[in-house]
Amino acid sequence: MACFGLLRRIDSGALSRLQKMLKPPNPIRLLLALAALAAVAVASSGCGTTSADVTRGRVLFIQKCGTCHTLAEAGTTAQIGPNLDAAFAAARAAGQSSSTVEGVVIPQVENPRPSTNNPAVSMPADLVTGQDLDDVAAYVGRYAGVPGAAPPKVPGGPGAQVFANNGCGGCHTLAAAKSGGVTGPNLDESLAPGESMAAIEEMIVKPNAEIVKGYPANVMPQSFGETLSEKELEDLVQYLVENTPAGGGKGQGKSKSG
Ligand code: HEC
Ligand code: HEC
Repeated sequence: MACFGLLRRIDSGALSRLQKMLKPPNPIRLLLALAALAAVAVASSGCGTTSADVTRGRVLFIQKCGTCHTLAEAGTTAQIGPNLDAAFAAARAAGQSSSTVEGVVIPQVENPRPSTNNPAVSMPADLVTGQDLDDVAAYVGRYAGVPGAAPPKVPGGPGAQVFANNGCGGCHTLAAAKSGGVTGPNLDESLAPGESMAAIEEMIVKPNAEIVKGYPANVMPQSFGETLSEKELEDLVQYLVENTPAGGGKGQGKSKSG
């Protein structure tokens, strides 16, 4: 933590110059900024030991960041902010270390660069602070842009894995998946008994066709129809039917495979 404590004390002029370099998100500029940060990190000796908890950072990322950002290892697919794998892929390929990526994430969370004049698509400041920020930054630093990064295997059969891989749980509560997202409806409660598989499929592939009362449009990604295979979609719908009131009984944990 000593390391990023020092980074945080970079004067605000340096920080805004750095942030200008980062905008627009362009791999070359990002690389320059990373190089600048790396220089700072090297200058502040004693860096490199943090007490960050990457596992905890993953959970926080899914809750606090995954509602806007795609990150393969987290299984999040939202497209409101930049895809963080894409944002850091070039830096990673150029051999930048996890702690360097971490050092870009921390100032971005503390002082997000305004993206547009539309506050609806800007990143709010200080979504996480203190130890939470260290943990999230260490997590993003470990995985963003790492080729082949994918979410860990989960129990519960193929549909449970599709639910996990696509970050559904970051936005939705579902007891069977042990997820607690609150950006979208609680699926243990909102899927009514007798809801057909076709109707549930439509909710997933065309989330804007019918907006659930009390929730915003355009927040649930509209790309699942393209990104999920037919088989994945089928497994996912089956999983939801079996684990919500839609199937008559909920939370029995019974699934096709087991
Ligand atoms: C409400 C949506 C939203 C949330 C929540 C959010 N972000 Fe962002 N984020 C954005 C937007 C929009 C941008 C683009 C800002 C810009 O480029 O000016 C961005 C940019 C970034 C960038 C810079 C990427 C690049 O290409 O330079 C990083 C890193 C980042 N966010 C990390 C996070 C982390 C970590 C969290 C969780 C603590 C988070 N974001 C939460 C919307 C969000
Ligand atoms: C970035 C947040 C986000 C992600 C990720 C997300 N959703 Fe949603 N979801 C929402 C929001 C917000 C709504 C309510 C607004 C609407 O109807 O589009 C919703 C609505 C739904 C509904 C309709 C619920 C009802 O009561 O009618 C279902 C079903 C659903 N989502 C399933 C999923 C599944 C399955 C995934 C993963 C493949 C997923 N969602 C991913 C935010 C999200």
